[in-house]
Amino acid sequence: MAGYNERTRGFVSIIIGWLKTGGTLTLTHVMTREQIIEALRQVKYPGFSRDIVSFGLVTGVEFTAPGTIVSLTVTTTDERVPRILQEQVAEVVGRLPGISRPVDVRVKINTSPSAANELPPREGIAGVRRIIAVASGKGGVGKSTVAANLAAAFHLLGMKVGLCDCDLHGPSLALMFGAGEQPTMDEDDLINPVTVSGIKLMSMGLLVDDDAPVILRGPMVTRYTQQFLRGVRWGELDALVLDLPPGTGDIALTVTQTLALDGAVIVSTPQEVALIDARKAVKMFAKVGVPVLGLIENMSYFTAPDSGRRYDIFGTGGARVEAEKLGVPLLAEVPIEMATREAGDRGRPIVLRDAGTPAARALLAAAEKIRGLL
Ligand SMILES: Nc1ncnc2c1ncn2[C@@H]1O[C@H](COP(=O)(O)OP(=O)(O)O)[C@@H](O)[C@H]1O
Ligand SMILES: [Mg+2]
Repeated sequence: MAGYNERTRGFVSIIIGWLKTGGTLTLTHVMTREQIIEALRQVKYPGFSRDIVSFGLVTGVEFTAPGTIVSLTVTTTDERVPRILQEQVAEVVGRLPGISRPVDVRVKINTSPSAANELPPREGIAGVRRIIAVASGKGGVGKSTVAANLAAAFHLLGMKVGLCDCDLHGPSLALMFGAGEQPTMDEDDLINPVTVSGIKLMSMGLLVDDDAPVILRGPMVTRYTQQFLRGVRWGELDALVLDLPPGTGDIALTVTQTLALDGAVIVSTPQEVALIDARKAVKMFAKVGVPVLGLIENMSYFTAPDSGRRYDIFGTGGARVEAEKLGVPLLAEVPIEMATREAGDRGRPIVLRDAGTPAARALLAAAEKIRGLL
């Protein structure tokens, strides 16, 4: 019976339309939610070359009696962003044929889900143009290696770069840059980062001995993380790269909830167990409205130096498939290389030590892509 009623209603509305237009019967195509979302891919996030759909900002399309409602959720402290998005979305959707009007665009400014009341609103860092978080679901997938090389690659591209090791419990960037110098503190209590290979670096590894455990819990973790980010004299930077600890623990939450991140890069190996966790990291950023700039597959394959044969040690193609599923770009497939591991251990990231190796080339290309997305 329901089917019959639906059909009757459709038929009646065509007749009414016909009467209203004075007898000209125009058969309009009725837009589906999916078609509207597809059309919204034309709308770029202000200042970015990525669209709002792939950033995961479109949270709903509803058809109601008075018109069409498009809902967006954004995380920004810039009040121009919601206004620009509202105008552009209204224009794109308004141009579509067969849409029920008026088009109402509702932009929700996202505040953190749990701690909105205790934490200050997300803010940038004075003097820092872009903040990029490098994250992973799992540890040991090469997140710090990628963060160090991306920062170094940005430097090679002529950008002013800072690198903050937010992995307070397992800091490795001081080692990866061979930094031994202790940061100094000024009278105004701001910490001066050390400069290594042209990059401003701050890491817990600069403050504690290599074998001293860093025991921090709960509120202390939040305080230290804040100090690393805001208590450091970063100066003028084109980009600040953050090496987040793996997973979605206290530090990652403090960073995503208090800092206005411009984007996140997720590192994973091709293995399903790593990808499952990478997916969670992508969702964490999407939930708080931080654009996921893409996935980097690390340890993608190994080419034996003696035979030239390729071995897919952790499988192959996993991140490519996952990136497609998640609707985010795959930024690089970085092979396992002795030279890359050695470069990290010897305090000079591979893109600086030997930019010609396949891993270095993949990381340099990823840095260029990221720069294009910002
Ligand atoms: N592409 C690679 N080729 C060779 N070794 C790598 C590569 N990526 C990471 N490694 C090595 O693997 C280990 C773990 O990497 P790391 O960057 O510290 O991971 P995470 O920060 O995710 O824990 C390090 O010893 C590093 O040198
Ligand atoms: Mg690490």
